[in-house]
Amino acid sequence: MSHIPKAEYARRRKALMAQMVPDSIAILPAAAVAIRNRDVEHVYRQDSDFQYLSGFPEPEAVIALIPGREHGEYVLFCRERNPERELWDGLRAGQEGAIRDYGADDAFPIADIDEILPGLIEGRERVYSAMGSNPEFDRRLMDWINVIRSKARLGAQPPNEFVALDHLLHDMRLYKSAAEVKVMRQAAAISARAHVRAMQACRAGLHEFSLEAELDYVFRQGGAKMPAYGSIVAAGRNACILHYQQNDAPLKNGDLVLIDAGCEIDCYASDITRTFPVSGRFSAEQKAIYELVLDAQQAAFDEIAPGKDWNQAHEATVRVITEGLVRLGLLDGEVQALIDSEAHRAFYMHRAGHWLGMDVHDVGEYKVGGQWRVLEPGMALTVEPGIYIAPDNTQVAKKWRGIGVRIEDDVVVTRKGCEILTSGVPKTVAEIEALMAAAREDVA
Ligand code: GLY
Ligand code: MN
Ligand code: MN
Repeated sequence: MSHIPKAEYARRRKALMAQMVPDSIAILPAAAVAIRNRDVEHVYRQDSDFQYLSGFPEPEAVIALIPGREHGEYVLFCRERNPERELWDGLRAGQEGAIRDYGADDAFPIADIDEILPGLIEGRERVYSAMGSNPEFDRRLMDWINVIRSKARLGAQPPNEFVALDHLLHDMRLYKSAAEVKVMRQAAAISARAHVRAMQACRAGLHEFSLEAELDYVFRQGGAKMPAYGSIVAAGRNACILHYQQNDAPLKNGDLVLIDAGCEIDCYASDITRTFPVSGRFSAEQKAIYELVLDAQQAAFDEIAPGKDWNQAHEATVRVITEGLVRLGLLDGEVQALIDSEAHRAFYMHRAGHWLGMDVHDVGEYKVGGQWRVLEPGMALTVEPGIYIAPDNTQVAKKWRGIGVRIEDDVVVTRKGCEILTSGVPKTVAEIEALMAAAREDVA
């Protein structure tokens, strides 16, 4: 059962409807079941917008929000109860359950949507939907509109305005409520434990997938149905491939391993990266790069507070990393000139973070009116600077090549600064080496 209270879903729907113009309707489909191969399905994951407004976990469902509708503003189309199908595939809420358990004012069988929904749209001036993100649903929506248009001579009034729902809804999703932060803390804590276990289990001779198995074990044990995204377990030079997911190379002493993985609880993501040595001890070069990334991350945390803008944390990481790369002899020149020419991008080619929430790269605008967004309490984001020295970068001394380091934590903006949700995984060189040494003693 969802950790988000039923009343909160109702509040979200009310808040959205309060922003919709009068005489409008919002229509959102549930995520479709995705086929993996032949008759095997991917694990079902509800669409985040749909989940946010309903908490309703089933496929083949459509939400209609109709402010001011006399017979109820929240209409849910969903599958009918069916003893035969439920025997094979599991229970369904049915229309009764939609009303009783999920707070719908009115519920209809999804099989009847073509007959019923045009009547609900009729007379409404504006339709809000996630236009463009689901071409199949866009086409069905136009079919329903055309049903109304075909009856125009009988006095039916089709809507004239079609507006993307994203702006209103995604702005709401950007601000996390206390209940959402609580779930995100839980997901973060489980993921933190998973990273600790992977560090403890790490040995030369194992494979990247051996550590992925440790992560998956802790995710599942903690109640997570799945990772929030494909786990990255990248040893040695694989760490320089930003979205590496092959996870099948052997772990070798002398290499670092970069793990970027987080679980999902109740459709809320966590997203942690740690980088540590296979042997349990950092080399001098690995330590130098690692501590530079850690300094950059700390500088970013210092720039996350209400009133600071989205880009300040990123700028702080660029400054620290550029200064450090000059100090280590990996970049040559005057720091400000190197920052102006974005010289860091040869080593640090992504941004310092992204919004985090129901989607790992969560919704919400980064700029408003052309200006970087100003941070406010309740916004959740990642802080993830990295340095990746390409194995074939002949501009730098050989000893540096193939080192890839990222350190990533999840934070929520608070009234005074930010709360780090993922502090349960060690991060300093000394802490990581101590944790790994203790794990080796235990088995010795
Ligand atoms: N794991 C994806 C990211 O860190 O953004
Ligand atoms: Mn990540
Ligand atoms: Mn991330």
